[in-house]
Amino acid sequence: MARSMFATLLLWLPLANAYTLPNNEVLQESDSARPGYKCKCYEGDHCWPSLGEWRTLNASVDGQLQKVTPLADVCYNTFEGMPTYDVEKCAVVTANFQNQDFAVADPVYALNPLYTNDSCLPTTDPTASCNAGYLSDYVIIAKKTKHIAAGVKFARRYNIRLVVRNTGHDFMGRSTAYGALAINTHNFKDVSFSRIYRGPGRYGGSAVTVGAGIQGGELVKKAFEQSPKVTVVTGECATVGFTGGYIQGGGHGPLATIYGMAADQALSFDVITAKGESVTANADENSDLFWALRGGGPATFGIVTAVTVKTFPEVPSAAVIININSTHTTDPEVFWKGVTAFHAQSNHFVDNGMFVYYELLLGSLHIQPIYGPNMNKAKILSVVKPLFDDLAAKGVPYSMTVKDFPTFYELYTDIFEPEGAGNNQLTGGRFMTREDITKNNTAIIEAYKTALSPSAEFPFGIVIGHIVGPGVGAPSVDDAVHPGWRKASSFSITSLFPTKDNWDAAKKLQTDVITKALDEAAPKGGAYVNECDLGQPDWQNQFWGYNYPRLLRTRQKWDPEGIFYAETTVGTEKWSEVGEPPKLCKKI
Ligand SMILES: Cc1cc2nc3c(=O)[nH]c(=O)nc-3n(C[C@H](O)[C@H](O)[C@H](O)COP(=O)(O)OP(=O)(O)OC[C@H]3O[C@@H](n4cnc5c(N)ncnc54)[C@H](O)[C@@H]3O)c2cc1C
Ligand SMILES: *[C@@H]1O[C@H](CO)[C@@H](O)[C@H](O)[C@H]1NC(C)=O
Ligand SMILES: *[C@@H]1O[C@H](CO)[C@@H](O)[C@H](O)[C@H]1NC(C)=O
Ligand SMILES: *[C@@H]1O[C@H](CO)[C@@H](O)[C@H](O)[C@H]1NC(C)=O
Ligand SMILES: *[C@@H]1O[C@H](CO)[C@@H](O)[C@H](O)[C@H]1NC(C)=O
Repeated sequence: MARSMFATLLLWLPLANAYTLPNNEVLQESDSARPGYKCKCYEGDHCWPSLGEWRTLNASVDGQLQKVTPLADVCYNTFEGMPTYDVEKCAVVTANFQNQDFAVADPVYALNPLYTNDSCLPTTDPTASCNAGYLSDYVIIAKKTKHIAAGVKFARRYNIRLVVRNTGHDFMGRSTAYGALAINTHNFKDVSFSRIYRGPGRYGGSAVTVGAGIQGGELVKKAFEQSPKVTVVTGECATVGFTGGYIQGGGHGPLATIYGMAADQALSFDVITAKGESVTANADENSDLFWALRGGGPATFGIVTAVTVKTFPEVPSAAVIININSTHTTDPEVFWKGVTAFHAQSNHFVDNGMFVYYELLLGSLHIQPIYGPNMNKAKILSVVKPLFDDLAAKGVPYSMTVKDFPTFYELYTDIFEPEGAGNNQLTGGRFMTREDITKNNTAIIEAYKTALSPSAEFPFGIVIGHIVGPGVGAPSVDDAVHPGWRKASSFSITSLFPTKDNWDAAKKLQTDVITKALDEAAPKGGAYVNECDLGQPDWQNQFWGYNYPRLLRTRQKWDPEGIFYAETTVGTEKWSEVGEPPKLCKKI
């Protein structure tokens, strides 16, 4: 009480940023130091918890509170004044910095280091300086739901920025936050399958309850080990978390064309709310929260500790792999004829229940795979034949491989390639509807060309493409997923690879040129909160369509104070990161 009165008095002093207190302690930037904003509390502010208060928190989370240190501090002589250099550990970090499993295992590592301010990267110069950049100050390595609840309550009580970190995959850095208290959910590894779901709602088929820390690859492996074998709608990438950002943002993947988005499969969520209370959200209990958690975006309505989703019987599966690159043609005209012919098949592929993952670079199209559930080699070749015929007719050379497998899981582990970590990446993206592709495939391909080579400063970009139609095989589910996804047949991510120095220029180019080109070429489509341009104009409508007003009401009910925050998510209109280092503040 005395301290906060003193702080209020300080506001009346004609000093800007730093005050020298009677005991020579320097008090920097009280909450109200930024005109027009009310900010979260940061280290150095009068409101920041004392060491004793942090110790109390640590006791309430059974000693699982850690002060954050950057992974590569072992490559530098010192970090925050303490000696850190260790030649062997540095070699391990350097060798593994781009390995996703290694990255995920660290409590706070961000797979895209731009959002840490590129701070304290591995180096061969130990005299360089290592600082925490935009990493959080503390992290709770939560092992029990009560640890999550204690973290939420603490952050709420002291007005500290809270960030949830599962795998650190977020392309837009949404699991990283300067000066925050992070809650790491990666240890919630419980998985339990049931043959008959007995919870509320009409569904009585097989299901699985998945803890917050489970990754897609772990889940499909466990599903495959059941008897009878089952599958789950997950992402194509094995290391993406299942229960965190992925399913809450919607979640597309190889089985989405036949079953719908991952969020559509959800039957029940266990959640820690913004007040730190445990609730269940399903068809009977807290049905508004249940609706919103299925596609309404990450870190918005609560922290999910477990989700129950439908499982499906295993299916025989086939894949075609196609390459068109410099070993086939160096003529850009021939190359782009090939890309155009391929993408024009999007509607045909999804009509056959298929999913396609491809990487497009200047002069190289790598399609791996065109995936056909319930297909063998002969069947998939017959379905892909119109593409082969079109490529032949247009004189486009290519190479092709076909494979089949008894199950989806065996295809998944054989065909999907590991992805990296540790690269500065600036993303954008858009899903395109069947109508967009019928009417304007050529304009979409022109937008891809723009994305691959947008300017002299950024001559190389990439497109990571997915042909996926989550509205084709599945009954339409009333949840928060953008309704436009039901009409989609293609979704692409664009990426530029800036350095910290030309990051701002890249953002502008991404939004003003690349996002604009894709938005115009596919006006019926929308954008995907998990794989997007943070500068996406009209993001509320682009991410959620007509679901937005209902989502906003649900956010206001479940988190009226703004305990959770992730950029361009529901209800964050008044919040922004202000200044350097970026502090989270609300416009008043
Ligand atoms: C290599 C790669 C491949 C990908 N492939 C696919 C794909 O096939 N399909 C697809 O749909 N997406 C894909 N994505 C995107 C993916 O869905 C998002 O990056 C997603 O946000 C990752 O969630 P996470 O929990 O694993 O990651 P994190 O970065 O840890 O968290 C992401 C966001 O979710 C929040 N969050 C995490 N856990 C919780 C929780 N328990 N409760 C509430 N909020 C939480 C975080 O605060 C953050 O805002 C891919 C991403 C990458 C990097
Ligand atoms: C929390 O307690 C554990 C166990 O006593 C200790 O190892 C850890 O360093 C403490 N964390 C902080 C931030 O002091
Ligand atoms: C972030 O990077 C910029 C530019 O290198 C630097 O000026 C700034 O101090 C860094 N901020 C933090 C918190 O590391
Ligand atoms: C080009 O395609 C061939 C298959 O025909 C593949 O082996 C090769 O790795 C590809 N090259 C590049 C640079 O992608
Ligand atoms: C096709 O794309 C062009 C160029 O982006 C755009 O101007 C036009 O409106 C689009 N047409 C349709 C029917 O979507």
